[in-house]
Amino acid sequence: MRNNMYLALDFSTWKEAKTFIDVHQFQGIPVKVGMELFYREGPQLIENLKQDNHDVFLDLKLHDIPTTVMKAMKNIANLKVDMVNVHALGGGEMIKRAKEGLNSGSSTHETKLIAVTILTSMDDTTLNKELNLGGSMKDNVVRLADTANKNGADGVVCSVQEAKEIKDVCGSSFLTVTPGIRLQDSNGNDQKRIATPALARKNDADFLVVGRTVTNALDPKSAYEKVQEEWRNGIK
Ligand code: C5P
Repeated sequence: MRNNMYLALDFSTWKEAKTFIDVHQFQGIPVKVGMELFYREGPQLIENLKQDNHDVFLDLKLHDIPTTVMKAMKNIANLKVDMVNVHALGGGEMIKRAKEGLNSGSSTHETKLIAVTILTSMDDTTLNKELNLGGSMKDNVVRLADTANKNGADGVVCSVQEAKEIKDVCGSSFLTVTPGIRLQDSNGNDQKRIATPALARKNDADFLVVGRTVTNALDPKSAYEKVQEEWRNGIK
């Protein structure tokens, strides 16, 4: 399954996001909405995007006690987005209840539940020294993916580097959503585990999340098309 690439709408307001979409002719492409924009604009933003024919990945990364997450997901279900996420570090019970909440909303629309493993902005130092988690990055990411899979998640957010091993353990239909995507020579910014779209293709990632490599490019439209071309066909 390799069918989608979500553009991260990391803007402060709907007005800014909409101007960016219109100016660079990104009408109707799949988009990812994160905390910055959602906390400003609220659920109406999702309505606006859907009216403009955008598929939406709602990236709110819930992480709380299982009951709170379950109830929040019940409300999120009514927004009828493609995907929503939780932190896998919230544990198996929280993931299970998140899925229960999504399924118990009044909508018949299916929203995929995705669990964030270890953020792509973290490296071995953050993992081993700050969080005091033993083992390699890959081992930790794969273990969290396995927990997510066993508790009803449809897939995980991970880096491109871990996508293949996750499929080996969780099965090929378990989705891998990969941020930290950079065109060759792009700035990594705060991301540590970055990869090119071509490597994402090679490692069988299902979905790309693409942000600053496009939004900060001098020509966002051509950067987007370049990512899409590498993602679909590799580097020629
Ligand atoms: O600009 P860049 O491509 O680094 O943006 C990545 C986007 O993906 C950001 O919106 C960030 O919040 C999001 N994200 C991430 N790592 C995750 C989940 C989401 O970078 N594990």
